[in-house]
Amino acid sequence: MPIPTIRWMNGTVKIIDQTKLPHKLEYITCCDVRTLWKAIRNLSVRGAPALGVAAAFGVLLGAKAFKSNDRKRFVSHVRKICEYIGTSRPTAVNLFNALDQMQGVLSLYPHESVVELKSLLKKEAFRIFEEDRRVCRRMGEFGAKLVTSNSRIMTVCNAGALATADYGTALGVLYSAKKKRKKFKVYVCETRPLLQGARLTAWELLRAKIGTTLICDNMAASLMKQGRVDAVFTGADRIARNGDAANKIGTYNLAVLAKHHNVPFYVVAPRSTFDLSIPSGRRIPIEQRPKEEVISFGGRPIAPRHVKVYNPAFDVTDHRLITAIITEEGIIRPPFPANIKKKFL
Ligand code: MRU
Repeated sequence: MPIPTIRWMNGTVKIIDQTKLPHKLEYITCCDVRTLWKAIRNLSVRGAPALGVAAAFGVLLGAKAFKSNDRKRFVSHVRKICEYIGTSRPTAVNLFNALDQMQGVLSLYPHESVVELKSLLKKEAFRIFEEDRRVCRRMGEFGAKLVTSNSRIMTVCNAGALATADYGTALGVLYSAKKKRKKFKVYVCETRPLLQGARLTAWELLRAKIGTTLICDNMAASLMKQGRVDAVFTGADRIARNGDAANKIGTYNLAVLAKHHNVPFYVVAPRSTFDLSIPSGRRIPIEQRPKEEVISFGGRPIAPRHVKVYNPAFDVTDHRLITAIITEEGIIRPPFPANIKKKFL
């Protein structure tokens, strides 16, 4: 069973505090929207699909705090909450898709009372949660077919149970392949600056008893050159209409390396990670993070305090570098602009 990273519990949102892993498995209980917003911003809860669920549950926290029966004021209150949650992190489109779905409830039921709307919002948030669980399993099924026997797989960041409501996207493929008794081992890129690979993916894969080797990000090229990587599997935070895919900074490096060394590069992501409103990855907003994340390591300073820092949290992989995108609706192959359109539009 995957570890539940986010739950709605007795009117609160209970999340694993991922900033504490792998040393401590601690939980945060968010009783109000502000606490949840902070948990998203500081990456206590993270990963695109989990952010979608967190956003939906955040709307419930906001709705619950509204104490009158004035429907008009309630609708404007919920819309403000959605706007506020939307300021937490800009890149993962799952967060915005979930907020749109929650607001859709308000327009879909123009005559319902505040009490009824609260219950409809709750239903919608749980639908988003359950849907994420379902699609993880479907992507796992499709993706496992691409795991060849005795293969050596590389991954970056954390696209596992900690990043979703179930067992993950890229790591979901590996869990599903393991269930089918396929033999493989995994190279995990540490993922500087915040080490989601080292702290979270290595932790998850070891718990699942999957053969795991941790590498520093700058070791990937050397491994590929030695012919020791058979495939790369990553998640995504936002995929444009042409297949360009934003994911954790460093993913693009791996895609370029994979192309050069003739290694297949797979992106695993649900429909909720596609942003069909944008034609290409150039329009994907890239989150810039504080310089402290780069000038320190494990809480210790590692650079001159006043050095200038560039710290984008994500990069965009050109669709021409992607071998296939695994979704819950099946595997999409190039040409991506035409095949994404066929699949989702
Ligand atoms: O900054 P993070 O840790 O939220 O970044 C997460 C990623 O880049 C994941 O690879 C992505 O969200 C896919 S998660 C299934």
